[in-house]
Parts: sequence; structure tokens; C-alpha cells
Amino acid sequence: MTITEADFEFISSVVRAESAIVLERGKEYLVESRLLPVAKESGHPTIADLIKQLRRSPMGPLRGQVIEAMTTNETSFFRDVHPFHALSDTVLPELIRARAAERSLNIWSAASSSGQEAYSIAMLVSDALVGQPGWRVRLLATDISQQMLDRTTSGLYSQLEVNRGLPAQRLVKHFTRQGTHWQVNEDLRRMVECRLLNLDAAWPMMPSMDVIFLRNVLIYFDIPTKQRILARVRSLLRPDGYLFLGGAETTLNLDAGFERVQIGNAPAYRLRSEGKTA
Ligand SMILES: C[S@@+](CC[C@H](N)C(=O)[O-])C[C@H]1O[C@@H](n2cnc3c(N)ncnc32)[C@H](O)[C@@H]1O
Repeated sequence: MTITEADFEFISSVVRAESAIVLERGKEYLVESRLLPVAKESGHPTIADLIKQLRRSPMGPLRGQVIEAMTTNETSFFRDVHPFHALSDTVLPELIRARAAERSLNIWSAASSSGQEAYSIAMLVSDALVGQPGWRVRLLATDISQQMLDRTTSGLYSQLEVNRGLPAQRLVKHFTRQGTHWQVNEDLRRMVECRLLNLDAAWPMMPSMDVIFLRNVLIYFDIPTKQRILARVRSLLRPDGYLFLGGAETTLNLDAGFERVQIGNAPAYRLRSEGKTA
């Protein structure tokens, strides 16, 4: 079965209104493959029936299910490796020195999906602070998907998930086997605070951030949305803080307030000091 043009347009407009995710023409296959399980679960014989019901009751419970289904949650521990090397080798030692008096760090994993990114950061922070008691670390993990946040809170990962990017010694050190799954140990779970947050809606009160991971999510948005989000990220980042984006993302030509710095093999972004231009 193929989705009609009108149904595709309708789904695109709902998804864009709720999440800012742009579904361009040609993504019909994606909509079909993602909505088929939602149709089945909600007792609709076809995707067309599901969409008909959503049109009848656009603000009903199906709306949330459709948005959840249309988000791409692909992630893994230490994804792309280099940003995490930059964090452990350069950024954390530097910030720990700079914050020696206040002994506090605020880190944000924005669009954190099922939590592998936040827990990867948590492992590195816990290593960096060994033997330095009294630090207050706030590691915020946010996403638009409540299902993903629930997974993050549980800290439970399958064998397949821990096989992707997590070194064996870290698995042994920070996880406990729970039947067929592995659970992140409580000390790291306590470090990570999960919150629902739509990057393109109002943000709750958040502290100024020392490090922001905003990785592999801007790619789904149009240029004005990326610019709006980057401007807000800029106002939240501390003057000596660091922003990490995904490998296919950049602030270049979007926000002149950032400058790109290279840390080992990872690009990072810092606030441009006054007076400098792009
Ligand atoms: C591909 S995952 C990236 C996960 C992780 N940052 C990484 O790089 O591995 C993209 C995440 O962005 C979330 N997302 C999509 N639109 C969003 C929005 N408007 N606000 C917040 N999160 C959003 C999705 O739910 C998904 O979990």
C-alpha cells in the first residue's frame, strides 16, 4: 500500500508542528514503515485508517504516538568516538581546573535519545573526578520522546546495544547484568537527570551550561529552526564552555556567534569573543 499525497502532506505538517522535523517529499517510505506498527498497535487495519482517525481527532492520543514513531532514535555509546576523546582529554581537565572554586559542572545532552550519549559522558565525568570529592555535577538528558526518556531513566540496555561502542572494561565497571540486559549502575543513573524538552518549543529554566552535546538532531530541521535553536544554545553556554554537534552538523553559515575549534579529531564550537566576526 502506498500513502496518498494528501495523507503524506498531513502527516508532514503534524510532525513539523510538533517537533520541527522536516519530512521532505521522497520520505513516503519512511512514513509508511514507521506508521505501520502504530496502525497495528492502535487497531487500525491500514495506515490510511490511522490517518483518517488522526484527522478526525488531531489532538487525540494518536498524535503523540505518531510523533514518537517519526523520530529517529539511532544512537550508541561513545558514538563517533572523537567528541568523547575531546571531552576526556581536553575539555573536562580544562573545565575542572577552571571551576576549582565553585566545584560544579553543568552538562546537557540535548536530544539524548535512549541515553547512551548521556551515560557515555557520565562515565568520563566520573573518571575525571576520581579522588576529587565534593563536586556537584548536573548532567541533563533531554528529548522530545517520553519513551526514550523512560529508557534512559531505566538505564537498561540489551547485549546488542552494549556491544555497540562500549569498551568491555567500561561495561564491567559501570553496568550490572539484569537477565538478558545490562543496567547502568546507580551512581551514574543518579548523575543523569531526564527531562522532556522540545528543542523548538519553550525551554524550562536551565542553568548555564559548561558543555552541550547537541548531536545528530539539527539535521532534521530547516535552516530557520537550526538558527533559532543555536541562538538559544549560545545564550545558555558559559563563555568558556563547549558545544559538540554531530558529524554532519555545523554552526557555519548559521550562527556567527560560534567559532569552530579542533580538539584532536573532533570539531567543537565555542562562543566567539566580542569583536571577532565570522
Ligand atoms: C538520532 S537521535 C540522536 C541521539 C544522540 N544525540 C546521538 O547523537 O547519538 C535524535 C534524537 O532527537 C530527538 N528529537 C527529534 N526532534 C526533537 C525536538 N524537536 N526536540 C528534542 N528532541 C528531538 C529524537 O527523539 C531522537 O531521540
